[in-house]
Amino acid sequence: MLPECSKALTDLPPYLFVKLNSVKEEAVRRGLQLIDLGMGNPDQPTPAHVVEALCRSVREDTSTHRYPQTKGLARLREAIAAWYHRRFQVTLDPGREVLPLLGSKEGLAHLFFTYLTPKDYALIPSPCYPVHYNATLLTGTKVHLMPLKEESRFLPDLDAVPTAVARKAKVLLVNYPNNPTGAVVEDLALFDRCAHFAKKNGCLVAHDNAYSELAFDGYRAPSFLQLPQARKYGVEFHSFSKTYSMAGWRIAFAVGNAEVLGNLYKFKSFLDYGIPGFIQNAAVSALEGSQDYVSKITQTYRERRDVLVASLREVGWTVPTPRATMYVWGHLPEPFRRGGSFRFAERLLLQEGVVVAPGIGFGPFGEGYVRFALVEDKSRIEEAVRRIGRFLRSARCERGRCGRRTGSSVLLVEH
Ligand SMILES: Cc1ncc(COP(=O)(O)O)c(C=O)c1O
Repeated sequence: MLPECSKALTDLPPYLFVKLNSVKEEAVRRGLQLIDLGMGNPDQPTPAHVVEALCRSVREDTSTHRYPQTKGLARLREAIAAWYHRRFQVTLDPGREVLPLLGSKEGLAHLFFTYLTPKDYALIPSPCYPVHYNATLLTGTKVHLMPLKEESRFLPDLDAVPTAVARKAKVLLVNYPNNPTGAVVEDLALFDRCAHFAKKNGCLVAHDNAYSELAFDGYRAPSFLQLPQARKYGVEFHSFSKTYSMAGWRIAFAVGNAEVLGNLYKFKSFLDYGIPGFIQNAAVSALEGSQDYVSKITQTYRERRDVLVASLREVGWTVPTPRATMYVWGHLPEPFRRGGSFRFAERLLLQEGVVVAPGIGFGPFGEGYVRFALVEDKSRIEEAVRRIGRFLRSARCERGRCGRRTGSSVLLVEH
């Protein structure tokens, strides 16, 4: 008989999207045509010049066929530092303050393994990108959840962390623009509070800035390192996945504190050989080439956001308009809240073939919400909302309450 796998792994529920996938399979078996607003998986092709750079590199530079190095090519680290300076006016030492990663998911998870032990605490927001929470638990550490509440603009309250927990905290994670809530920070005030917290309690700050470039209506996301002294206390993660629609390429980077990045590099050097060289070369062309693509996809996401928010409103579901990310985070219509977000998402999927991500998948404080990812074109989003409207109406009619409305929101049965 084979041994059991680790307790930490056994204790984890299946990854949200793995669970949703089996419901999707059932919906397809029932003959439904799916419209998938579930996973934040960019649907736009990677810029042509980046694809071209990859092909050229793999064809002409045979050194890229050999093992790469965990530390990444000097050329890439320099291109990252130059991009960071252009974007945030922050100067980085490409040798010590930049570390390429096989995706920020990989980097974040390995940062947790680099630092956390079962006697420590990690401070993780809830709701959050599921990896923030689950990868932390896999280290066996204790997790203290920091609720992100709508009334606090989805910002964590660091003063609410109990002193005993704060003293044992080793990692404080924040993420703005935020997945899944779409919340943003207006300035460096939250980062300043994080840095003070880190200084006082001897922990490090990890800022996940994966959505820094997907911002609308004139909003520009700041970086943690724009805060003077920030790099004494932490690191920031960026990704090519969303900025250049390169999610399948698996490339990202961390910047900031040299000691933290040195430790992460040491940890990773025992596990991986880094990013394939031809992908690194293509990533250089993404950073150094024209950034028109970024404006173009941002506009695409903004238009989709506007269509989704306006048409949801028409079917009686009012959701806030996010200023960044590729997500819309909506509070479930009142009567559905009791049944929970997973049940809502499951029923919507099995009845109408529309996939949304249930808030509970992002942690206990995500319950009562669902997340729409803007990864289908405008006409499919309109069609999705038509189906959602039909779903809301049919739920209302199930209990013989057809046609009644309260204010702008449709009155629904309890499930
Ligand atoms: C907040 C956040 N961080 C990190 C990631 C993972 O990005 P990557 O593709 O670089 O691993 C995601 C992916 O959706 C995300 O939402």
